[in-house]
Amino acid sequence: MSKVRVGVIGCGYWGPNLIRNFFGCPKTELAAICDANPVRLEAVGRTYGSAKLVNSVDQLLETGVEAVAIATPVSTHHSLASRCLEAGLHVLVEKPLASTTQEAQSLVDLAARKQQVLMVDHTYLFNPAVRRIKELVDYGELGDLYYVDSIRINLGLFQHDVNVIWDLAPHDLSIVDSVLDYQARSISAWGCAHANTDIEDIAYVNVDYGDHMMANFHVNWLSPVKIRQMIFAGSRKSLIFNDLNTTEQIKVYDRGIHVGATDEARRKAQVDYRSGDIWSPHIEPQEALALVVAHFADCIRDGKTPLSSGQLGLRVVRLLEAATRSIRAQGGRVVLTNGSGPWNGNGNDHSRENGSGQRLEDRPRRSLGKKRRDPLLR
Ligand SMILES: NC(=O)c1ccc[n+]([C@@H]2O[C@H](COP(=O)([O-])OP(=O)(O)OC[C@H]3O[C@@H](n4cnc5c(N)ncnc54)[C@H](O)[C@@H]3O)[C@@H](O)[C@H]2O)c1
Repeated sequence: MSKVRVGVIGCGYWGPNLIRNFFGCPKTELAAICDANPVRLEAVGRTYGSAKLVNSVDQLLETGVEAVAIATPVSTHHSLASRCLEAGLHVLVEKPLASTTQEAQSLVDLAARKQQVLMVDHTYLFNPAVRRIKELVDYGELGDLYYVDSIRINLGLFQHDVNVIWDLAPHDLSIVDSVLDYQARSISAWGCAHANTDIEDIAYVNVDYGDHMMANFHVNWLSPVKIRQMIFAGSRKSLIFNDLNTTEQIKVYDRGIHVGATDEARRKAQVDYRSGDIWSPHIEPQEALALVVAHFADCIRDGKTPLSSGQLGLRVVRLLEAATRSIRAQGGRVVLTNGSGPWNGNGNDHSRENGSGQRLEDRPRRSLGKKRRDPLLR
C-alpha cells in the first residue's frame, strides 16, 4: 500500500514530536513542514531534508500532500482545519479540536460532507496503559464504576489563548470518554487566575455521568511538583494509573467494602472492609504518538473511523466549554443537553443554569426506576 503523503503545520513545542513520528512511520511520508515563523521552521526543518519547508497553508496546499497534521495554537485550529478539509485533505488536529462547540461541530460536519478523515490527537487514547485500563474495565475487573479522581498538575507551560482546563483537561476527559461507556450529564468547575487575570491557571472540574458515577479533575499550572494520576474506583476493585511511574504504571487494588444486603444494614451503613492483593499488569512500552500517526494512516487507507474521532473531540470540547461557563458562574452546574437523559441531580443542589440558561429547577428529575442495579449490593 502506498505511503500517505503528510504535511505538518506548526513547529512549536508539540509539532516536532508529530514531525519525528510521521518521518519514522513506515506508513507515511513526511512531505512538507509548515510554520509561519521562519526561524522555527528552519530550526526544525533542517533535520528532515526531504520535506519541503513552507510558511503558509496556501503554500502547503501546493505541495500535493493528501493529509495534514495541525499543531498550532487552539485558536487557529478551526480556520486551518476547515481550509484543509475544504481542499480535500484528511486532517489530524491537535487536542482540543477547536475553541468552541460550534467550531468543533462545523469541522465534524465538513469532514462528513467531504468524506475525509478527521482525527483529533488525543494522544492518551493510544497510551498502552490507558488501553489496558479500558480492557480491565470492559472485562468487569473493577465491577461497577463509582468514581474517577484525576490529578494533572505541575509548573506548566502557560498558554496565551486558553486556560488550564483547555490545555490539560482534554487528556483526562478523553480518557474517561474512551474508557467508560458514559455520557456526561452535567458539569461544575471552580478556577482561579493568578498570572493573567483572564486565564485560569488552576481549576477543579466535577462531571456527573449519572448512575452514581462522578469524576473529579484537578488541573494546575502552578504546582511545585508534577503529578499525573488517575484513580478508577469500582465496586469489585480499584486501580491507580500513575503515568510517571515507568515500571508500574497501573496498580490494581482488591480493596473495597461490602454492605449488608438488608435495607436495615444499608440504612445503618454497616460495611465490611475488604483488603486483598495489589498487582501491577505488565505494560509493553510503546510511544503513543507513533501509534497515533500509524492509526491516522490506517484510517485514511482503510476508510475507518478513528478511535479519537471528530465526534469524540467534539464531546471533549463541549465539556471544556461548559466547564469554563461554570467557572464564570462561580461553579454553577451546567447541564449538558446532549447527555443520555435529563439531569439527575446527583444528590446535590448547587445547580443554577443549564447550557441554554434554563434553570435546573425547571427540568424534570430522572426516573430512579431506570437506575442500574445498586453496585453496593453486588
Ligand atoms: N497531544 C499532546 O500531548 C499535546 C501536548 C502539547 C501541546 N499539544 C497541542 O499542540 C498544539 C500546539 O501547541 P504548542 O504548545 O506546540 O504551541 P506553540 O505555540 O509552541 O507552537 C505553535 C506553532 O504554530 C505556529 N503557527 C501558529 N499559527 C500558524 C499558522 N496559521 N500557520 C503556520 N504556523 C502557525 C507558530 O509559529 C508556532 O511555531 C495545541 O493545540 C496544544 O494543545 C498537544
